[in-house]
Amino acid sequence: MEFIIDTVNLDEIKEAVEYMPIVGVTSNPSIVKKTSPQNFFEHMREIREIIGKERSLHVQVISKDCDTIVKEAHRILEEIDDQVYIKVPVSYEGIKAIKILKAEGVNVTATAVYDLMQGYMALAARADYIAPYVNRIGNLGADPMELINELSNRIVMDGYDTKIVAASFKGVQQVRDAFNYGAQSITAPVEVLKQIFKNPNIEKAVDDFNADWYAMYGEGTGIC
Ligand code: E4P
Repeated sequence: MEFIIDTVNLDEIKEAVEYMPIVGVTSNPSIVKKTSPQNFFEHMREIREIIGKERSLHVQVISKDCDTIVKEAHRILEEIDDQVYIKVPVSYEGIKAIKILKAEGVNVTATAVYDLMQGYMALAARADYIAPYVNRIGNLGADPMELINELSNRIVMDGYDTKIVAASFKGVQQVRDAFNYGAQSITAPVEVLKQIFKNPNIEKAVDDFNADWYAMYGEGTGIC
């Protein structure tokens, strides 16, 4: 099970990797726009500095035609490092680019997946990660969990190494369901993951335990 964060905000990334078991960072141009760094590649290198090589960094291309997607991928790898996962939308041009990049040994995250057959194509093209867009699929009236479940079954049945990194989350329940339906990995905004700990019962439980401790040993005493 992998938790990845969907942000390029440096402060958020620093805090998230310090506090939570985060194994990677993803973004897309709309997420980058929220921070609007002056120098995109410098910013991505800063993210790499923060997360280290032990965590994955997924960077999205912006072009629509295969040749330019592949050129952009090469530039991203040159400017950041060769461990970066290149996020390529699974369009007709995108799937060709994924095939080329995989043949070159590049790490690829197949993104903008709305449909099972798109997922199967990305799987057959040996993408390392496949990103179904949970909230966006739900908004279209389809069932993202069914897609995740069927993709996950296919991965197991055919013995692929590919991981599902479910994306596009607006709430914790969607994240939980994605894992339970078979996603190995999720990428979510930091504020969505922090919601996990906003359950008032957690604080109440701790307060009750502390009250019992202080009743025994006196107000303000601790263990250390
Ligand atoms: C992954 O990085 C996706 O691009 C992202 O999760 C999409 O999220 P959105 O549907 O909130 O834009």
